[in-house]
Amino acid sequence: MQEKIEGLLAAAKEEIAALSSSRELAECKVKYLGKTGLVTALLKQMKDIPPEKRSEFGKSVNALKEQVSALFEEREKAIRKEEMEKSFEREAVDVTLDGKAVKFGNLHPLNIVRNLIIDVFVGMGFEIFEGPEIESDYYCFQALNIPKDHPARDMQDTFYVSDNIVLRTHTSPGQVRVMEKKKPPIKVLSPGRVYRADDDASHSPMFHQIEGLVVDKGITLCDLKGLLDEFVQIIFDKDTKTRLRPSYFPFTEPSVEVDVTCSECHGAGCRLCKGTGWIEILGAGVVNKKVLENCGIDSDVYSGLAFGLGIERTTMIKYGIPDIRTLFENNVKFLRQFGRNDR
Ligand code: PHE
Repeated sequence: MQEKIEGLLAAAKEEIAALSSSRELAECKVKYLGKTGLVTALLKQMKDIPPEKRSEFGKSVNALKEQVSALFEEREKAIRKEEMEKSFEREAVDVTLDGKAVKFGNLHPLNIVRNLIIDVFVGMGFEIFEGPEIESDYYCFQALNIPKDHPARDMQDTFYVSDNIVLRTHTSPGQVRVMEKKKPPIKVLSPGRVYRADDDASHSPMFHQIEGLVVDKGITLCDLKGLLDEFVQIIFDKDTKTRLRPSYFPFTEPSVEVDVTCSECHGAGCRLCKGTGWIEILGAGVVNKKVLENCGIDSDVYSGLAFGLGIERTTMIKYGIPDIRTLFENNVKFLRQFGRNDR
């Protein structure tokens, strides 16, 4: 009997040492210590043992049971530790890894600049008015002192929808629409799309303008100069200067073309400004008395200033973009440069 007990202990030792998972261990424990297990079976043999040997047999089997239990306990601890270490490895998170970058969308540069311009003038107290893109000949030309057959019509190559309906060639009709409805003082900004039959590196058949109009008592060219100086210093650099050159528009008298010091070379002369140090940015002037009268505003009491600038042109100057067409190609690589995240 003693041999049997020792044999069982040796077998258990060997088997327990080879266990490698808690599932295997649980199965093996049942095999030895379960209700029908090998050690339990030994105890059940008690009744076949002669009474005088029963006590000794009982002690041996109990000792075996304790030893086997101790072996299981020890192995269980070791297996649990191994399994925990493995799960730590498997589930580990490397906190030093980079996060996943989120790609931002961004506004088109034309919208960035348009919003910026609107912001500046709204800050100066201007209201926003948007007129129609399909416009009558009257608002686009006649009311602005450009009668039919006037040579100034050639200044703007017009898309005609019919004899009297055009795609607006400028945002100036907005001036007329506002002055017809509103009494001075007027301070209005009118942004929108305009159309001209023109297409090359610096002209697009569709482009964007922003019209500004101020009408009040005693408005002069000085007010225009002050307004524009402030404006260009916010849009470009603080040291940007303006220069007014005499020009001609039928709807302003006097009329000027406004240049700014080049955003690239700050006036020294470079390729962008063709060596002059100056870049033309907009047309402007004192509102022609005839236009005020056409809109029912007494030109002896009130005067006005008006300016019209191209958003494409302003964007190209601001960012040093050489070809207007890149603004319409929707090349994502180009557009991303104007966002927060250009990866
Ligand atoms: N409408 C003119 C143009 O498109 C610009 C302009 C606006 C000039 C207002 C003077 C005053 O060229």
